[in-house]
Amino acid sequence: MENVLSETARAFDAHAQNYDALVEPNALLQNMRAALWTEVTRRVAPPARLLDIGCGTGIDALYFAQRGYYVTAIDASREMVNQTRQRIARANGNARVENARADELDKLGDEKFDAMYSDLGPLNCVENLGTVSAQGAAHLKPRGYLIVSVMARVCPLEIFYFALRGDFKQATRRFPRQMIPVNLENGTVLTRYYDPGEFFRFFQNDFHLVMSRALNLVLPPPYLFHRYQRAGVLTKPLAWLDARVSPLPFFRNMGDHFLMTLQRR
Ligand SMILES: C[S@@+](CC[C@H](N)C(=O)[O-])C[C@H]1O[C@@H](n2cnc3c(N)ncnc32)[C@H](O)[C@@H]1O
Repeated sequence: MENVLSETARAFDAHAQNYDALVEPNALLQNMRAALWTEVTRRVAPPARLLDIGCGTGIDALYFAQRGYYVTAIDASREMVNQTRQRIARANGNARVENARADELDKLGDEKFDAMYSDLGPLNCVENLGTVSAQGAAHLKPRGYLIVSVMARVCPLEIFYFALRGDFKQATRRFPRQMIPVNLENGTVLTRYYDPGEFFRFFQNDFHLVMSRALNLVLPPPYLFHRYQRAGVLTKPLAWLDARVSPLPFFRNMGDHFLMTLQRR
């Protein structure tokens, strides 16, 4: 398992320098990020203590630090941790940033949090979600929240897009119920895609389910951003429809990602 995780961390190390240039201008990714920002802000008010699990280059950590939250951010990749530290320092912000995996929360000592969040898929790279659940609950205050955005198994627009091109391998790439290698620049990241119900089962001993909704269900997956831009004036109605359909029963179990809020029992 150590090799698997270090391979994933190495792939993200190599990706860290290019991450912001790929991610920040992408309005489809920003749409999903904004949904997590809204959900965290709605559940806990500053100066609450937040833990960012898989912080990447620290976009969320800085966002919350600048709004008066006490932020601790962790990532398995050393290079991502460096990028987060630099981002916080450039903005004269304040956050604790540590090189630790999602299943190594004990490295943080006895710090207790009001809420934890994990944005845009870090938990898809974790093999032992049950450990994350137990450690997460131990480091949350009573009734504390865990808010996650997770890559979903069934992304209808992705299936449709690749099936139309006759590429059934890509159309069904998210379906295996185990970790599979996914290429990231020159590296490989082991990833598992989840249905919300299946994901929640790893956490149900320690958490209640508060909310689950789709992210980018009517809107396409972020790698189709350039095609999406060609939709021109249609992008606004699509975003409007996406926000309306994503929380609905049945539809909320699909999408590019899902957003889930759990509360410590
Ligand atoms: C797609 S990026 C998302 C980064 C950030 N949350 C964001 O919204 O921009 C996934 C991040 O999760 C980190 N990661 C992957 N597996 C992890 C693990 N087991 N523990 C902690 N971080 C992990 C990667 O190093 C990478 O920085």
